[in-house]
Amino acid sequence: MNLNKILKKVGLLALGLTLTACASGSETASPEAIQAKGKLVVATSPDYAPFEFQTLIDGKNQVVGADISLAQDIADELGVDLEVSAMSFDNVLTSLSSGKADLALAGLSKTPEREEVVTFSDSYYENGRVLLVRSEDKAALKSLDNFKGKKIAAQKGTLEEQLVKEQLISSEVISLQAMGEAINELVTGKVDAVAIDQAVATGYTSQNDKLAISDAELKTQETIGTAVAMQKGNEELEAVVNKVIAKVKKDGSYAKYLEEASTYTVVE
Ligand code: ARG
Repeated sequence: MNLNKILKKVGLLALGLTLTACASGSETASPEAIQAKGKLVVATSPDYAPFEFQTLIDGKNQVVGADISLAQDIADELGVDLEVSAMSFDNVLTSLSSGKADLALAGLSKTPEREEVVTFSDSYYENGRVLLVRSEDKAALKSLDNFKGKKIAAQKGTLEEQLVKEQLISSEVISLQAMGEAINELVTGKVDAVAIDQAVATGYTSQNDKLAISDAELKTQETIGTAVAMQKGNEELEAVVNKVIAKVKKDGSYAKYLEEASTYTVVE
């Protein structure tokens, strides 16, 4: 084979590799690739105030919240525009592997199971997991035992859904796609509790005195923080995200974003 032929072969091989990389979506998420396309696509499930939710701005539905402000900081660090891609929570992580989104910010708990399939940033928030009940039932539902035979709603694909299945084996678990739906079921008496992150539950109880947080505690094996997810092994992007997280934690920006989020009216 002459040199020309060899070069051609190498060239074709390289093209093949590039195409494979694109097809698997792995190329879309590197910082350079994000900069080349000029936008950072962030997957989220906007039904989880104060982290991500919809509000009306100038008569238009917009996704806002502390996670969205953090996503904007990451986009700014990369020097690109932010595109928020709203979807149901159970699609958020798969949108990373399919290359539809570069990052996922969705009040995501950094669990060991998820770490097998995605890369997580450092944690930017510590949440607790609670059972939200109707205030009138709070006295009767104060230990996990009290939930025997009760209906408990959780959002599909969440850590809370998993914990309820594991720890409340004598309860009926109702898995719902949207958190708003779960809250509605609770308010209207179709379920007896909703398994949810503490900060989100507190948002509901502060606005609705018919809802309360049960004293029964869902146990988590270790302290599981809230983090940004990206395609597994994307270390370059992870470094950029961790740099921004270190900053917003240190200078109190994330705490400020949470406060700002509470000034918006949630649109379900
Ligand atoms: N912390 C829980 C989890 O990661 C629930 C997150 C739900 N997020 C949302 N945007 N609805 O499983």
